[in-house]
Amino acid sequence: MRIFSGIQPTGEKHFGNYSGGFRQYAATQEEGEAFFCIVDLHSITTAYEPKELHESTLDLAAILFATGLDPDRSTVFVQSHVTAHPEAAWLLSSVASYGQLGRMIQFKEKSERQEFVSAGLFTYPVLMAGDILLYQTDLVPIGDDQKQHLELARDIAERFNHRYGETFKVPEARVPETGGRIMDLQEPERKMSTTDSQAAGKVLITDPPDTIRKKLKSAVTDSGTDVRYAPEEKPGISNLLEIMSVATGEAIPELEARYDSGGYGPFKEDVAEAVVALLDPIRTRYEELRADEPELRGLLARGAEKARETAEPTLEQMYERMGFVRP
Ligand code: TRP
Repeated sequence: MRIFSGIQPTGEKHFGNYSGGFRQYAATQEEGEAFFCIVDLHSITTAYEPKELHESTLDLAAILFATGLDPDRSTVFVQSHVTAHPEAAWLLSSVASYGQLGRMIQFKEKSERQEFVSAGLFTYPVLMAGDILLYQTDLVPIGDDQKQHLELARDIAERFNHRYGETFKVPEARVPETGGRIMDLQEPERKMSTTDSQAAGKVLITDPPDTIRKKLKSAVTDSGTDVRYAPEEKPGISNLLEIMSVATGEAIPELEARYDSGGYGPFKEDVAEAVVALLDPIRTRYEELRADEPELRGLLARGAEKARETAEPTLEQMYERMGFVRP
């Protein structure tokens, strides 16, 4: 089975990204041949700083390896290192419909928030379709917010297969059942977000232990004193239960039973220690790898090589079926 996912490099990665993303990637690499792509070409579709793109691309590579992706097993690479991606996107833009792209929720939401709306923001899902289809992907681990883009990739694959002959596998999405909705520590009615959460509302994967303790200690809780999972009534405590469950691997009912009536204070302290225990070794590995840029770039070069070899035959087929004269 072929697995493919893409992750944007820009923006500091937080516990919500770990829970709904990195954690799943490391687990899925056991199930088949996995490709994880740092989608730097997607990151230029909204305003960005070139320097920050550069640093965050290397940061994300180090985070992916630190959270458990094994370079001997999974292919981790940078999208712009494999030119088949933008080539496939251009070819596929001829089978993507303008109307359907205009109905993408993410495009509508993001374009409302920008004063300059780039053409790239509009065609973003076509590049994403190319990412996935080039690898004859079976399974795409994604967040809830990317389901519509995956649907579009499936439509594009089917239209291309219909017009030019069977070329692409039609991929399936996999959305995490648990841990996909970690909420902001200060505003537990909202998702923990790279762009919308304040510093105190999100635990970064690379936060040192004392910062993690401070953030969890000041996390908003709810009225009452019982530790109970009830997202509507007790969004703050429910979120902390969810976080602790992700950090320790214990089920929420077990945690409820243990902390039942012990009060919020001791519970929050234990949540903090559980998160520290999870993230501290990750941060240590991250810092080691991030400090050794030649090593990190070497791993990415290996990934790009493998990705190129895998994507090339599909791209060649696309050109041929579409009638291009090949050099
Ligand atoms: N659009 C995805 C996101 O923002 C990132 C992405 C790009 C992706 N290409 C992909 C995800 C291919 C899965 C497969 O999260």
